[in-house]
Amino acid sequence: MMIITFASSKGGVGKSTACACLAGSLLDQGRRVHIVDLDGNRTLTRWLGPLGSDMPQLTLATPDTQALTEHLEAQGRGGAPDAILIDVAGAYERAITVAMARAHLTIIPAAPTEADLFEASRVAGHLKSVFAAFGREPLYRLLLTQVQPLASHAQAHAFHEVDRLALPRFDTVLTHRAAYQEIGFSGKPPHLADLARTSVQKAKAEVDAWQKEIQSLLGKKQPERKAAA
Ligand SMILES: Nc1ncnc2c1ncn2[C@@H]1O[C@H](COP(=O)(O)OP(=O)(O)OP(=O)(O)O)[C@@H](O)[C@H]1O
Ligand SMILES: [Mg+2]
Repeated sequence: MMIITFASSKGGVGKSTACACLAGSLLDQGRRVHIVDLDGNRTLTRWLGPLGSDMPQLTLATPDTQALTEHLEAQGRGGAPDAILIDVAGAYERAITVAMARAHLTIIPAAPTEADLFEASRVAGHLKSVFAAFGREPLYRLLLTQVQPLASHAQAHAFHEVDRLALPRFDTVLTHRAAYQEIGFSGKPPHLADLARTSVQKAKAEVDAWQKEIQSLLGKKQPERKAAA
């Protein structure tokens, strides 16, 4: 069972979107996914909640931050999900620290802008100091999102900034696409959306490449589990 936290103290960077996309790709492989929605705005509960009625492999919960540890332990007992994805609010609150401390991998989404990268670097620093207190090294990656498909000089600066800040990042980036923007309205991440559409196909390919990177980072070649027909 892998626990992945999507963390950023900045709003609108794409945490909930990325989390929904990863959930969609895992569900598409027949994996059992549990989403922990620690955002008081209940974004993922609104977006993906309705999916759960058709998909028993998907469960969602909105525990109190104080009860997170107990909640995760309860999930780990019998019938445990394959993946637990934790989404937090885009603000500096205790939930971020608690959720990062419990995760096997923390993903910090950021658009290629100075403001997002500054904030991402702060979150990475905070994560490292939390783990250092326990003599541990955190596993984390920056995920560049809302990347413009046409490379601009500003975007080139942003990629250089990522290197300068020594932020480890996924090679895969999520481009700015309609298929991602629609998730909030349709409740369908790319893997579960209309694959006849080009935007959806391209988004699905990006998410697949990103998911492969995640799997190899977590070092578990988890067997594909196709849902029984
Ligand atoms: N790759 C993308 N392409 C196009 N639009 C995107 C992409 N990623 C996110 N968005 C859009 O950007 C907005 C913010 O995304 P999202 O809600 O995922 O961010 P967040 O970090 O979870 O925000 P908050 O901190 O408020 O929870 C949404 O309208 C979403 O549709
Ligand atoms: Mg969100």
